[in-house]
Amino acid sequence: MASESKKVAVIGTGVIGNGWITRFLANGFDVVAFDPAEGAAERTRDTVERAWESVKALGLKEGASKDRLTFVSTLEEAVQDADLIQENVPERVELKQSVLRDIDISSKSDAVIGSSTSGIKRLYFKKH
Ligand SMILES: NC(=O)c1ccc[n+]([C@@H]2O[C@H](COP(=O)([O-])OP(=O)(O)OC[C@H]3O[C@@H](n4cnc5c(N)ncnc54)[C@H](O)[C@@H]3O)[C@@H](O)[C@H]2O)c1
Repeated sequence: MASESKKVAVIGTGVIGNGWITRFLANGFDVVAFDPAEGAAERTRDTVERAWESVKALGLKEGASKDRLTFVSTLEEAVQDADLIQENVPERVELKQSVLRDIDISSKSDAVIGSSTSGIKRLYFKKH
């Protein structure tokens, strides 16, 4: 996916979500993030700030900037214009199903949706 004009949404900004955000920013994407936890935006900005010298050393894509990160207050707002959506909520089946369903409802029909699920063998959710 070429980075110019493509938008990425990251849902859940804990350990893995913040890792994705850092990589997407380093690759020159606009990133919109959502996480309902108090202080999540500050924690993400701190994480990106601390990692930035290292990702710079690995090589930034043209236009890459920490400033291309936006935090929003609803999942719907985060995903509505996104071309790629990366889900990273805690590893609980019901939560994953609910969040993936909400992403599916609010995103563009041709958006690519990725999940950081690592241990759940089958993850069914009804398409809207
Ligand atoms: N930590 C690892 O080493 C690792 C490695 C590979 C895969 N994973 C997978 O990545 C996923 C996330 O793991 P993690 O370690 O980053 O967890 P984490 O607990 O660090 O982060 C999860 C985040 O999701 C947020 N969240 C909770 N409910 C939400 C909701 N409804 N909408 C949006 N955000 C919500 C939480 O506030 C939290 O910030 C899990 O599926 C996990 O299995 C983790």
